[in-house]
Amino acid sequence: MFIVPGPASTNLGRKVAEILNLPLVEVESKTFPDGECYVRLTRNVKDERVTIIQSTYPPQNTHLIQLFLMVDAAKSFGAKEVIVVIPYMAYARQDKIFRFYEPISIETILKIFEKLEVKTLITINIHEPKVFKKVKLECLNLSATNLLAKYFTRTSLTKVLVFAPDLKAVEMVKEASKILGGEIGWFRKERNRITGEIEMVSEEEFEVEDKNVILFDDIISTGGTTATAVKMLKEKGAKKIFSACIHPLLIKNALNRILEAGAEAVIATDTIPSSVSVVSVAPLIADTIKKFV
Ligand code: R5P
Repeated sequence: MFIVPGPASTNLGRKVAEILNLPLVEVESKTFPDGECYVRLTRNVKDERVTIIQSTYPPQNTHLIQLFLMVDAAKSFGAKEVIVVIPYMAYARQDKIFRFYEPISIETILKIFEKLEVKTLITINIHEPKVFKKVKLECLNLSATNLLAKYFTRTSLTKVLVFAPDLKAVEMVKEASKILGGEIGWFRKERNRITGEIEMVSEEEFEVEDKNVILFDDIISTGGTTATAVKMLKEKGAKKIFSACIHPLLIKNALNRILEAGAEAVIATDTIPSSVSVVSVAPLIADTIKKFV
């Protein structure tokens, strides 16, 4: 098997190849003056199994097009099978029709991979795994929640409360609490689909006072969800609050927004490279793709 680290995941792709001791196919890439993407695989892939690793964080349209082009190049030059690893899957939050006459964007993207004859698509903590049921393509959704939870076991935190800023994150929190122990809690969040404004409510009483809280969420985008949850937890008497997230999109001043709200730190994975991506998903990806070697 050859590993192709796409332009959006060069370091992560190289780490995976190193763990598995597999040959790399470097990718040449550039942007034409009019903004179009160009990619080229630098090695013959004929009759090989090829795994392309490319995350689709912003500029997500560019990263997606680069990925489509890499897959098509590999197929056209005779690759036996193409597996794509998309550590952060863009467009996954448009996973249903919220308002009439919208597309289900993630389904559109998956249909393209199907047409390109990708054998298997592997991603990590996709926003809604049910979307995979709509396509024939083999899809695997890995969870990096345990890796984040294990990071906190290496700290000296005691009296830990594992908390979800919305109901969607409760599954993550349950998974993390198996490793971290302690109690769990959650808020309920509503988002206005037009303005993007959020409203967060505490429906149940959880013992927050004097606890060290670790907030788990799949994505931090603008930081609004996490910052709101941090403020509410502070008001309820939490001692220290940490934010753990899989995909740190961290748009504009999201990180400062969360720290200014009172969080001690944001800890994230490297599905998206960022200043807080301290937990690597490379071993998780390597462990999964070695089954296909
Ligand atoms: C939404 O349900 C997700 O799980 C995240 O909570 C959301 O994407 C975070 O977005 P933001 O940081 O903009 O509030």
